[in-house]
Amino acid sequence: MSPERSIDKKRIAFLVSGRGSNFQAVLDAVAAGDIPGICVGLVTDNPEAYAIERAKNAGVPVMVVDYAGFPTKAAYEEALLVAMRGCRADLFVLAGYMRILGTGIVREFSGRMMNIHPALLPAFSGLHAQRQAIEYGVKVAGCTVHLVDEGMDTGPIVVQRCVPVLPDDDETRLADRILAEEHKALPLAVKLFCENRLEVDGRRVWVR
Ligand code: GRF
Repeated sequence: MSPERSIDKKRIAFLVSGRGSNFQAVLDAVAAGDIPGICVGLVTDNPEAYAIERAKNAGVPVMVVDYAGFPTKAAYEEALLVAMRGCRADLFVLAGYMRILGTGIVREFSGRMMNIHPALLPAFSGLHAQRQAIEYGVKVAGCTVHLVDEGMDTGPIVVQRCVPVLPDDDETRLADRILAEEHKALPLAVKLFCENRLEVDGRRVWVR
């Protein structure tokens, strides 16, 4: 028997609505052995999401809960919750999930659900964060990974990374620069979670 102690691998699942480049960054970090986890499922509200291709390429099971196929948001969320429970995940990662989750789901996954947002929260929550940053005239922008609570982009902050805003930036150029940092911040936050190194103390998250 090996004398080495190993950390039990955490089951990581994802909720993604679109392109999935942040999802890919975590897939890559897990594949490289940087994160002690197993990617156990992708849940998406969008049957056209490119993230589906990424999941298939990585052999990750896909569950599509097509928002358009439900008569009400409540019916959609009921199906979403069933899909999410089915993943039996230790951690749910919201990586470009473009809807606001209902309180039932947020409560059920409290403390084990994180989201990536393309701004230095608490500034510029909500949609078009990079555009908000340009229009406000800030000199520094960035991204935030936070635990999900019942507010919009308000949960305790796990990791932030910043970038300069340059004089000739438009929304796209700034978004690209922030995205490169998102691809570092999200795998780091997932790694810290999977290594049991996060300690939540009210609003503050300590890294052990
Ligand atoms: C990212 O900018 C993320 O911060 C935001 O949605 C975008 C998703 O991009 N929540 P991708 O699908 O990960 O490429």
